[in-house]
Amino acid sequence: MNAIARETAATSPFDLQAGDAWHAWRAARLERGMPAPDALCVPLTDAARPTAGELAALRERIRCHNLVFYRCGPSARELDRRGFADLCGALGFDRPDPHECADEDGISALQVCGAGRRAGYVPYTDRPLSWHCDGYYNPPERRIRAMLLHCVADAREGGENLFLDPELLYIRLRDENPDWIEALSDSRALTIPANVEHGVTLRAAATGPVFSVDPVSGQLHMRYTARTRSIEWRDEPVTRAAAQRIREILTEEGPGVLRHRLAPGEGVICNNVLHARTGFTDDPGATGHRRLLYRARFPQRVPGT
Ligand SMILES: [Fe+2]
Repeated sequence: MNAIARETAATSPFDLQAGDAWHAWRAARLERGMPAPDALCVPLTDAARPTAGELAALRERIRCHNLVFYRCGPSARELDRRGFADLCGALGFDRPDPHECADEDGISALQVCGAGRRAGYVPYTDRPLSWHCDGYYNPPERRIRAMLLHCVADAREGGENLFLDPELLYIRLRDENPDWIEALSDSRALTIPANVEHGVTLRAAATGPVFSVDPVSGQLHMRYTARTRSIEWRDEPVTRAAAQRIREILTEEGPGVLRHRLAPGEGVICNNVLHARTGFTDDPGATGHRRLLYRARFPQRVPGT
């Protein structure tokens, strides 16, 4: 290890040997807390072309809490997918990560798909979507560091989103038992088996840690899914106990968990925080409700945060 690497390791708050750096980081993060969704919402006059002041307000909240909500102004409530792409560009993003279910522009239109390839994936159904960070099945070199959702239309009923900043979960786990952090930081902690359809491997198996320090930003990165099928936790008692504790904390929706139902014209911008979705009911016939959200994912954190 050279001098710079030694210095970085010594000062990262995420090093379990770190004393002062950890306590300072922990205190600062707990001080910022997690405001209610309304306090975390920035109104945008024209979301496709946010002003410098609006961009600064968005970034400031993301720097503090890793996520922000926005609400389109009454004169420009209709943000189409081109406008959504323009908002991503205004935030400083390049092209979205090419997900297998995304369209040509890299944006995914999340709505119930009754047939076709997408119908086999829970995001394209009306079923609840369990807690996860996006891209948990990706190899480390294809980490997803930022994610945006924009609500075009809501369901007749349900379809709430839940969010939790992984930094708050990390603090809670480390306070309760640092051994859990060590187990979850092991490169063998969590394996997502390969995705094989009709004998063809669509995605190779991915094994890696739950918590890691992002080599690009030095910030905490989390890779997680609460799925219980097609998931392999490392077969060690401490790893299983840590995974169980995460499930309990998420299920009880304790401090820091936000529950927010995105209304048409609202969206969320985040550094790929933990999120979940409740089930919902569309009613395309009588009331015209058919939930539609645009989603974009990026390999870099929200620029400037
Ligand atoms: Fe997601």
